Amino acid sequence: MKGVILAGGLGTRLYPLTHATNKHLLPIYDRPMVFYPIQTLVQADIREVLIVTGGPHVGHFLGVLKNGKELGLQHLEYAYQEKPNGGIADALALAEDFADGDPLTVILGDNTTDADISEAVRRFEGGAVVFLKQVRDPQRFGVPVFDPTDPKRIIAIEEKPTEPKSNYAVTGLYVYDSSLFQYIRACDPNYAGRGELEITEVNNAYLRDGKLRWEELHGFWSDSGTFQSLHESSRYWAEKARAQTVRERERVPVEATKQ
Ligand code: G1P
Repeated sequence: MKGVILAGGLGTRLYPLTHATNKHLLPIYDRPMVFYPIQTLVQADIREVLIVTGGPHVGHFLGVLKNGKELGLQHLEYAYQEKPNGGIADALALAEDFADGDPLTVILGDNTTDADISEAVRRFEGGAVVFLKQVRDPQRFGVPVFDPTDPKRIIAIEEKPTEPKSNYAVTGLYVYDSSLFQYIRACDPNYAGRGELEITEVNNAYLRDGKLRWEELHGFWSDSGTFQSLHESSRYWAEKARAQTVRERERVPVEATKQ
């Protein structure tokens, strides 16, 4: 299993911050945003990673990530997306040579989670897996529609529906087999009316062919593409770090009494 992190785009919703650097290098609490998806991959023992990036600040990635060794990666590659607003599936198309027939775990570079996806990655046998999370504002995301007669079965995924048919978001974490690239080639740029190749179209194609499964993400999950979500993510990770420090401090006296 190899990993791909999509870290392109112009980050227009975060201007003026993204005039200074790429969105995925902005801080979430004490580290650059892109460190979090890398951490999720490393935790799942995925150490060969491709970062797809684009836009005006691409050079900044090398200085921050170097060859990835400090973050636990064995092999780090970069790909350049010529159309920074080409869409997620357009960015993913650049991973075909890197994948070289292997399955890929894909994470959107602005998604941070403390859920452990190792088990789902280990169990992957083909097709595609999407990770779902219950949210308050599903209209901001891809949203699964469940079969009313079999509520565990997804019958469609709708991209940013005005009237969401469930309160789940399709998060930006996916696992795909190598048929991914043939599905991307069939994508229509007008699928969701924003001129982008949509990952939701790819997921619906897997679904149509009976090859899409889903798992629920257990833990915190958020994207960080807006000021609000960027701030909320920072707050969550800061609080988690603080709680951990407190726990560590509390452990000291217990260990001291053992000696
Ligand atoms: C993208 C996907 C959407 C998904 C979301 C998760 O949205 O199109 O299906 O739910 O990422 O972060 P975008 O960030 O392009 O608006």
